[in-house]
Amino acid sequence: MSQNEAAGDLSSAQIADLHSRALAVAARAYAPYSRFRVGAAVLLEDGSIVTGCNVENASYRLTTCAEQAAIAAAVALHGPAIRIRATVIVNLNNAASPPCGACRQTIHEFSAPTTEIFFSAADGSLTRSTIADLLPHSFRLATDNL
Ligand code: THU
Repeated sequence: MSQNEAAGDLSSAQIADLHSRALAVAARAYAPYSRFRVGAAVLLEDGSIVTGCNVENASYRLTTCAEQAAIAAAVALHGPAIRIRATVIVNLNNAASPPCGACRQTIHEFSAPTTEIFFSAADGSLTRSTIADLLPHSFRLATDNL
C-alpha cells in the first residue's frame, strides 16, 4: 500500500509521521559491517512514539536489530506494560526490509494480533501487515499481570 492510504484506524498522517521518523533514525544506524541501515518507529497504544536503529558489533552475533533497539528503549522509557499499536520498519539500502524472525517474536511480546506492521519494499513504499500474519502459531508464555 502507499503510505498515503489509511490502514485500520491509523490516519495516513500518522503512518507518514512514523515513516519519516523511521527513516531519520536509520541514518544513525551503526552498521559498519553490513552497511545495511535499518530504522524502526514504534507507536504505542498511549500515543507515544519510540524509535531505534541497528547497532552492529565486531562479534557479529551481538548485533542489535532496529526493532529490538526501539522496543528496549520503549520499555526503558515507558515501563513494562507497553503495548504496541503499530511499527514501521525501513532501511536506507533500497531493499525490502520485513522484520527478521527474532524481531517478529520481540514485537509480538508487546502486541495484539491486529498490531500493524509496515515495512519498506525495495521501491521505498510501505507494505502493510499484522503481527499475526507475520508470526502465525506464535509462542507466548502466561505471565502475572503487571
Ligand atoms: N536488521 C535489523 O535491524 N532488523 C531486521 O529485522 C533484520 C536485520 C539489521 C541487523 C544487521 O545490522 C543488518 O540489518 C543486516 O542483517
